[in-house]
Amino acid sequence: MKKEYAKLWLAYSPRKNNRDCAALKKIRVAGAPASDRISQSAVSELKNGLSAMLDIETEVLFDSDTAEVRSITSGKDLLEVESYSISLVETGLVIEAGGPAAFLYAAFDILRTVSCEKSIADTYAEKKTHRPSDPLRMLNHWDNMDGSIERGYSGNSFFYEDNEIIIDERTKDYARLIAAVGINGVVINNVNVKDAASYMITERYFEKLARMGEIFADYGIGLYMSLNYASTIEIGGLDSADPLDENVIAWWKEKMAEVFRRIPTLKGFLVKADSEGRPGPFTYGRTQADGANMLADIVKEYNAIIIWRCFVYNCKQDWRDRKTDRARAGYDNFMPMDGDYHDNVILQIKNGPMDFQIREPVSPLLGGLRKTNQMLEVQIAQEYTGHQIDVCFLIPEFKEILAFKTYCKEEDDTVADIISGKTFASRYSGIAAVTNTGNDLNWTGNYLAGANLFGFGRLAFENELSSAQIAEEFVRMTISSDESVIAAICDILLRSREIYEKYTSPLGIGWMVQPATHYGCSVDGYEYDRWGTYHRADHLGIGVDRSDKGTGYALQYNEPNASIYNDPGKCPDELVLFFHHLPYTHVLHSGKTVIQHIYDSHFEGYEEARGLAAKWDTLKDKLDEEIFENVRERFERQLVNAREWCDQVNSYFYRKSGIPDEKGREIW
Ligand code: GCU
Repeated sequence: MKKEYAKLWLAYSPRKNNRDCAALKKIRVAGAPASDRISQSAVSELKNGLSAMLDIETEVLFDSDTAEVRSITSGKDLLEVESYSISLVETGLVIEAGGPAAFLYAAFDILRTVSCEKSIADTYAEKKTHRPSDPLRMLNHWDNMDGSIERGYSGNSFFYEDNEIIIDERTKDYARLIAAVGINGVVINNVNVKDAASYMITERYFEKLARMGEIFADYGIGLYMSLNYASTIEIGGLDSADPLDENVIAWWKEKMAEVFRRIPTLKGFLVKADSEGRPGPFTYGRTQADGANMLADIVKEYNAIIIWRCFVYNCKQDWRDRKTDRARAGYDNFMPMDGDYHDNVILQIKNGPMDFQIREPVSPLLGGLRKTNQMLEVQIAQEYTGHQIDVCFLIPEFKEILAFKTYCKEEDDTVADIISGKTFASRYSGIAAVTNTGNDLNWTGNYLAGANLFGFGRLAFENELSSAQIAEEFVRMTISSDESVIAAICDILLRSREIYEKYTSPLGIGWMVQPATHYGCSVDGYEYDRWGTYHRADHLGIGVDRSDKGTGYALQYNEPNASIYNDPGKCPDELVLFFHHLPYTHVLHSGKTVIQHIYDSHFEGYEEARGLAAKWDTLKDKLDEEIFENVRERFERQLVNAREWCDQVNSYFYRKSGIPDEKGREIW
């Protein structure tokens, strides 16, 4: 028998709590027309979901017709069109929607309330407007057309197989799943556009892409593709990709006319240029702005955008060279052209200056750039955070990033303010996550990694939600309604990131990971390599001097951040080795020496990981067998990994420093 894939938060299993059924039998909608495709999805979600959970029939009544809504929504910005309120009146629930997508989000809000067994009467007693925090809330797939996924830990792609596009019921269920958490854009292919993927903008794939775009559009999701910057050469037969070359521009004009005609729902492109071997404008002595603007000008007439990544650095560094600093590269490459990017270009900036380590400072481009549309890129694929074997709930990390004060203005200066578009009144802004899905039956490999997919969407829609609220919603909707189980799993999720950080690389230094795979410990794995990722440990100390006496990276921040990071006495402990090379005997704010911190955190991290696994084991009789076993088996592997990290890191630094552990624990 073919096994079914999991429905996750759309499982809608029967709920006992149906005391509010009367209010759910009649739902009135204002602000979205009945005939709209997204409204129709919302109606069917509401009716099906409520009937499955509560065994009731719901009538949905519309207050307005199409013409009226068109006049309401025109001239509104994206956030308004997606805003809604829900209130309880005598006849039932009333949804006031800024447009059809807003109605869809309201429908999922109601379904979530029922699914979490919360009282409808209490939740909707007071009318509250829900306005998405970030205008663009996107997932980036690193799926390749041969079906593999770059940094994928949950099977193969459900979009591609053998260089063909797959469209099946899973395509629609995927759209439903991510719309239910508020996602409104998906980039469907890897940023490294090679081989067959270069032909996605050709006749070979138009028909299927058009169909995929329609399926997404029914759920308010925009279709985006990653683009091969050198398409003119690779598929166009030209000998250049110079953004100022007339033949290049003419080729793109014709190509884009064809692409947007054949895929009418397409919203734009993501481009990785001049990065890790990918082609780009630097080859022709042009700037990143030249490249981005050329494409943006051409797609403008289709109302489309160009999302241009800032992950541009020298990946062929000589490890002996202490002047070049990969951390500086984003800022050095993109700041000089602040203001030059056209208004349908958005720069997509990874949260940290390196590459999705468990701890990094926030990229100084966020709060540096003032005249450029910006979007934050995070990674829920657990590339450096445990490959969806180790449990690592990333929402607490994302909350810290969003709350980071950049001091780019007197107020409204946090990362959250910038990417919401508030700080600089940006035309486009938002947040994207490199996604963690694949064709595993549970979508994310480790069942608990589903919390990162769920949580990313929820957080992007409502930045104010706490990590605890998000974890609880996830567990209630997908795992259990037993209060003791919910408490136990939330505890596991909420402590997991700190624990992962403890048993891996210390104090913000990062890396120390197995090269290529990025899973498992290898303290010197990247030390004599070309990637710009060094810890510089010797017998006296460890860390990279990025202060004014070193590479000067700390000075890329606005004050007072620059002065804080520049001074080892002020720099927060968790980042101190990112910014400074310090003796093992240096005393941290915590009162511990660097070396003792390394020992303590590693022993603790491993012990605490064992605690999480033991806690999971206590849930055996209370959980669905498949879920229990799926996570249990991964915990087994996590403990092997955590023990290796702990022992290798401790032994390495004991051998380098010769300083024993104060507590005399076993070091090898
Ligand atoms: C990391 C990752 C690559 C990826 C790159 C990117 O370096 O390891 O697989 O292509 O980031 O973000 O472009």
